[in-house]
Amino acid sequence: MKTERLLQSQGFGSRKDCRAIIRAGLLSIGGEVIDDPFAEIAEVDLGDLEFEVDGQRWRYREKAYLVLHKPTDYECSHKPQHHLSIFSLLPVELVRRDVQCVGRLDHDTTGLMLLSDDGQFIHFWSSGKKRIPKVYEVTAKHPVSDEMVASLLAGVQLHDEPTPIVAKACERTGEHTLRLTVTEGKYHQVKRMIAAVGNRVEGLHRSQVGGLALPTDLAPGQWRWLEPEDLATLSAFTD
Ligand code: URA
Repeated sequence: MKTERLLQSQGFGSRKDCRAIIRAGLLSIGGEVIDDPFAEIAEVDLGDLEFEVDGQRWRYREKAYLVLHKPTDYECSHKPQHHLSIFSLLPVELVRRDVQCVGRLDHDTTGLMLLSDDGQFIHFWSSGKKRIPKVYEVTAKHPVSDEMVASLLAGVQLHDEPTPIVAKACERTGEHTLRLTVTEGKYHQVKRMIAAVGNRVEGLHRSQVGGLALPTDLAPGQWRWLEPEDLATLSAFTD
């Protein structure tokens, strides 16, 4: 792969932009400046290739897989209506790579958001049909009763849904809090389920998707790459 192609694939702009970056002496690989945009990098070396652009370190990634700790008051949209875009939390290179959210969280929901530029990955992990468990920490307006938990586990009828939605797991974690695991991905699903049992969501945080928990060292607004071992953890869930 030519160096201009390498930078283009990693989100550094058009071929012309990338050529200019390289000709300006801003690309270095292994500490050596490479100012030839047509210099070849062997495909076998791409896997663990590290490079610097304008002093910033990058690793070549054929596809981008990320986890972000979504803060409150961000919208999962490129054209947000009332709040900031979640994409403003990512480096421009990742946005240019066309990284997308895997499903959506409401603007006031916090927690684990997967992002990728791999269409198949996005399709799989946002599908409601794959019964992927998603764990939500709910803060409720009214005290959480045993009856509410029992109703969520038995299934609640939501408006416009043909059959009741059954929680995969539900446990009370405090007087006003509960942990709810759902496997669908319906619009405002958790808020509607909690409303269906006569309560109201006052705070919502997604703590886990599939087998992957939100990394505890990721502060709201921070993101990191998902490495192969994280992807294996993500996939380790049982229906
Ligand atoms: N359910 C909701 O109601 N909102 C979310 O953001 C996610 C799940």
